[in-house]
Amino acid sequence: MARVKTVCVDAGSEFCPCYLAELNECITCSHLQGKGFCDCGNIGICIYQEYIWCGSKKKATRGVFPAKILEKHPLSKKAVLLKLKVSKKLARQLNEPGAFVFLREKHMPHYFDAPMSIMNSSEEGGVILIAIQIRGIKTKTLKNVGNEVLLKGPYWNGILGKAFLKQVAGENCLVVAKGISQAPAVLVVNKLIKNNNNVEIILDKGNLGKIFVDGYLDRERCSIVSLDLMSSSGREYLEQKLSDRNLRLVFSAGPDKLHLEILEKLAVLNPEVLLAVTNNTPMVCGEGVCGSCSVVLENGLQIRACKTQVDVRKAMERRVLRD
Ligand SMILES: Cc1cc2nc3c(=O)[nH]c(=O)nc-3n(C[C@H](O)[C@H](O)[C@H](O)COP(=O)(O)OP(=O)(O)OC[C@H]3O[C@@H](n4cnc5c(N)ncnc54)[C@H](O)[C@@H]3O)c2cc1C
Ligand code: FES
Repeated sequence: MARVKTVCVDAGSEFCPCYLAELNECITCSHLQGKGFCDCGNIGICIYQEYIWCGSKKKATRGVFPAKILEKHPLSKKAVLLKLKVSKKLARQLNEPGAFVFLREKHMPHYFDAPMSIMNSSEEGGVILIAIQIRGIKTKTLKNVGNEVLLKGPYWNGILGKAFLKQVAGENCLVVAKGISQAPAVLVVNKLIKNNNNVEIILDKGNLGKIFVDGYLDRERCSIVSLDLMSSSGREYLEQKLSDRNLRLVFSAGPDKLHLEILEKLAVLNPEVLLAVTNNTPMVCGEGVCGSCSVVLENGLQIRACKTQVDVRKAMERRVLRD
């Protein structure tokens, strides 16, 4: 059976090669999987060469940083928006679709780390925005944080189908964002606008009960529609948009149920459309080590979804994306 090319989101970054290379478990490089040949498919950098140049060792690992809370705004009874001060370098690294960090209350141990998407990042000021929905044990400790949190990052695999977001230019794109997942949609919309795409954004307040990103979107350069995707008029509107023959890309930000609904509609109405989605896989270490994000693909290959870019449709086939 042909080997499925798996690309690590960290490949070529300052964190590559990592522990996985030292253990012959590299996601991308076949040499660093213990095989005597190269079949990475020319990804533009040679991880094996980097590894040898580093003295057959990994490069830097991600650090944990204290981040000062500059502002804290309640979004609803169960959600809060944090404005955090970080280094300019980290803000630059996080200014990309799919960027996220692990956040925890500063007195809590490392197993309280919760993955949180970057909603906005100002590189000049070294300021990032994160919207947190209070759901369970980890996020409850973030509800009443004092003046500082602990942050681990940067991480980049918060979106599956990232390559599509980079490659589309001058096209028609639809962004559908629901509930707290409005947050990761902001950097996506900015990127699509920067590449001269026509962007329509459908926002659904979902169980959060609030639209909170419209003030961060460039209204002059995109159109925004607020609706309830569960209502019959909302479903009808979405279906009409998804069937547009001029549509090139859809970004779905929300629960896997939303991704699945869009995927199924596209399969019937417009199968050529590119699809990117938020990566909702449970993540603990983010480093491809702990295995909490492990998924077995159709060909039996086990991937670590925290670092591996997977085709969204393949992921769906194997229910990588949960209900
Ligand atoms: C890449 C990524 C980006 C995210 N961005 C945001 C964000 O911007 N804002 C936000 O409010 N939430 C975000 N989440 C979800 C957030 O991490 C979880 O809601 C949080 O970890 C729940 O932890 P808990 O202990 O409070 O709740 P729990 O009661 O433990 O869980 C509540 C729900 O969150 C899921 N969850 C629990 N632990 C994790 C975990 N370690 N990784 C992923 N999901 C988990 C569970 O499957 C369950 O559906 C993101 C998740 C991922 C993977
Ligand atoms: S979150 Fe630990 S391996 Fe992916």
